[in-house]
Amino acid sequence: MKICRTVEDMRATVHALRTKGEIGLVPTMGALHAGHMSLVAQALKENQGVVTSIFVNPTQFGDPSDLEKYPRDDDADFAKLEAAGVDAVFLPSVDQVYTDGDETIVETTGLANVFHGLVRPGHFRGVATVVTKLLNIVGPDQVYFGQKDYQQLAVIRRMVQDLHMPVVVRDVPTARDTDGLALSSRNARLTPEHRAVAPVLNRALVVAEEALQGGAAIEYAADLIKSTIAAEPLADLQAVDFVDAATFDQATGDFCGAIGIMISALFGGILLIDQREVTR
Ligand code: PAF
Repeated sequence: MKICRTVEDMRATVHALRTKGEIGLVPTMGALHAGHMSLVAQALKENQGVVTSIFVNPTQFGDPSDLEKYPRDDDADFAKLEAAGVDAVFLPSVDQVYTDGDETIVETTGLANVFHGLVRPGHFRGVATVVTKLLNIVGPDQVYFGQKDYQQLAVIRRMVQDLHMPVVVRDVPTARDTDGLALSSRNARLTPEHRAVAPVLNRALVVAEEALQGGAAIEYAADLIKSTIAAEPLADLQAVDFVDAATFDQATGDFCGAIGIMISALFGGILLIDQREVTR
């Protein structure tokens, strides 16, 4: 497995890999867990060459202490990626990605500033900008993202469509622990007490999904989510949003088709998110 630390080296490596066939890119911020590895497994199935990027992107963090505390373990990440059969890792420094005087940003002006974007201003602009850079550096045929970051996925799909980017966006279902908690690098920062109650997010989504499948209106499902999470004093609900899966407009009342439910809550200061797509 090749480790590339510069844009030039990454481009030369992809150029050589291209002789094998299609290239898949799995962008990550490292601290890899089974959720990331399910993206890697999907990319390995669908491509002849696979690149994983590990870059803790400073422009998508609002709070500098959140950036500082973001878990990093390059050696453990390399071992997992090598064992999986990844061809190359892109591990750039910040100044490889954001060159001196860099002034271009990429923003989906509507989608970035609603729902989860209101809780984390500037976050999706940072994501769209760094993903554009990674796509331009690696030039993959397919790029892989988790469904857990539901709005991020919508932002990236929209950006790729609007900017005519020559890449196919693939999404992979949320990987969960045995108690239902969605896997996230942030889970490692929870205290044992907060970790024990964090599966309430998934439980609230299950209850809401069952109600919706039984014909309930969105407002009723929203109340169920709020009361399920309110019953857990260590969870501090931040947002519950229901969106039309195709347009990302707010969904209300009775619906027909697919909707996304996005929730976020703080557990002792650590923000966790989860989602579900429901079709009826
Ligand atoms: O989902 C993530 O890990 C990050 O937002 C991404 C897509 C790698 C961009 O930094």
